[in-house]
Amino acid sequence: MNIDGIPTRTLRAHPEQRAIDIIDQSCLPHVLHWVRVATLEAAAHAIRAMQVRGAPLIGVTAAYGLAIALDFEASDRCLAEAAALLRSTRPTAVNLHWALARMEAALAPLPPEARCAAAWLEAAAIADEDVAQNVAIGQHGLALWRDLIVADGRTLNVMTHCNAGWLATVDRGTALAPVYAAHDAGVPVHVWVSETRPRNQGLLTAWELDQHGVPHTLVADNAAGLLLRRGKVDAVIVGADRIAANGDVANKVGTYLKALAAADNGIPFYVAAPRSTIDFACADGAGIPIEERDGDEFRLVHGLDSRGVPSALRQAPAAADVANPAFDVTPAWLVRAIVTERGACPASRDGLLGLYPEEAHD
Ligand code: MRU
Repeated sequence: MNIDGIPTRTLRAHPEQRAIDIIDQSCLPHVLHWVRVATLEAAAHAIRAMQVRGAPLIGVTAAYGLAIALDFEASDRCLAEAAALLRSTRPTAVNLHWALARMEAALAPLPPEARCAAAWLEAAAIADEDVAQNVAIGQHGLALWRDLIVADGRTLNVMTHCNAGWLATVDRGTALAPVYAAHDAGVPVHVWVSETRPRNQGLLTAWELDQHGVPHTLVADNAAGLLLRRGKVDAVIVGADRIAANGDVANKVGTYLKALAAADNGIPFYVAAPRSTIDFACADGAGIPIEERDGDEFRLVHGLDSRGVPSALRQAPAAADVANPAFDVTPAWLVRAIVTERGACPASRDGLLGLYPEEAHD
């Protein structure tokens, strides 16, 4: 992905300085601000406070957070405690748990003195794999859209929700990977970007599409149904925080409503995610933990004031009783296909096991 015309990853590792640099996404779309993370606590804070966000990037940041922690002490106790702290930061995105389990499996058998160097290498491998998987998702997603891309050069109109793009991964994104693949292949593509209240991740999507030169239009979440009804959308594509073994999909709250409206209008609804987002141990969507976040995310709105200074405005009284579930679950039957690094499959147990036969157990 290009930022200011320069290919850029969202996370820079500095093993020699025992630190990583991340983009503080809470400052976007107004300021691109890189932050140095050099302690376990700072890594945990970055994930919890959503300086980094998006399931794959959360997982990669946690892996590096563990590497940073082991640089201070690499005993069995510290490895377990650091992993537990990072694991506690956000509950829904299973990539976080997957990355930490992979790190612990690689590091626990090693003598403590070998763990730190190995941790940096394993975290880098997870980051590199994320990029390669997203490139593959882009190609598989683009192939699915071939039927929708008409020869006369008509623009392909895609709708997305939240941000499952470059910013949510190390590079390329998941849901936006086919969009970037189409754009880079010269296919005229336009993206309807829903605002995604209350955290407004749609603004992040609009920002990164703008950086890469992809035409897009921001809309309020509530406008999606009308656009789908009026035939303004050829396909909807979103990312996922956890896909259950039966193909039910947890993603940013509001995704389910888009899937319902897409189904009512016969518009294909796709989910793009790598293997690390699929939880074969979770039978169906009812078993996916849904994160409840602080009500102030809803009561306050953030932006720039008239002088261009970052500010918060109160839109609901401090005492207002609010619920702030961060995710919802879209049942498998509303999903036309799940697009992974291995290809696309029906959103079903058989479909997922067809792509990942090694996960079939008696
Ligand atoms: O709360 P967030 O911003 O971390 O939620 C992000 C999403 O819901 C994304 O759609 C999902 O993580 C997929 S990111 C490739």
